[in-house]
Amino acid sequence: MRKMLCLLGVVGVALGFAAPASAKTCELTITGNDQIQYNKSELVVDSDCDEVKLTLEHVGQMSVDQMGHNVVVTETGDYKAVAQDGMQAGKDQEYVPADDDRVIAHTSLIGGGETTSVRFDTSELEAGGDYTFFCSFPGHYGIMNGKLVVE
Ligand code: CU
Repeated sequence: MRKMLCLLGVVGVALGFAAPASAKTCELTITGNDQIQYNKSELVVDSDCDEVKLTLEHVGQMSVDQMGHNVVVTETGDYKAVAQDGMQAGKDQEYVPADDDRVIAHTSLIGGGETTSVRFDTSELEAGGDYTFFCSFPGHYGIMNGKLVVE
């Protein structure tokens, strides 16, 4: 696993050098498991990033219906309401309210063994802002949440 992450890092750096110097994409990675846990309680975005590529890896084995995970980013003041609205939105919407301005970014909902990523523009974020990331699968947000920090 460590080797694989290292390799991803090397590829990321190589792509970074190949891309135009004007746009900087910062890569963040987080995992979710079958115990309703992320491996991180904080994600840090450098304020000089133009874009974030956030990757979620489900390292468990349970199906998306039993133990689905995603990552949704909102302002901290919105997160519980968005989580509850996401539950109402249901499985077809992957538990994310549709066309909702409070949602800054979200990944797809995945099951064990799967990986997904989302790119979003950091113009959506303010340095020093108070952001929370969480899993909107029913019953998960109370445990699976953390702060997204821009510094
Ligand atoms: Cu989850």
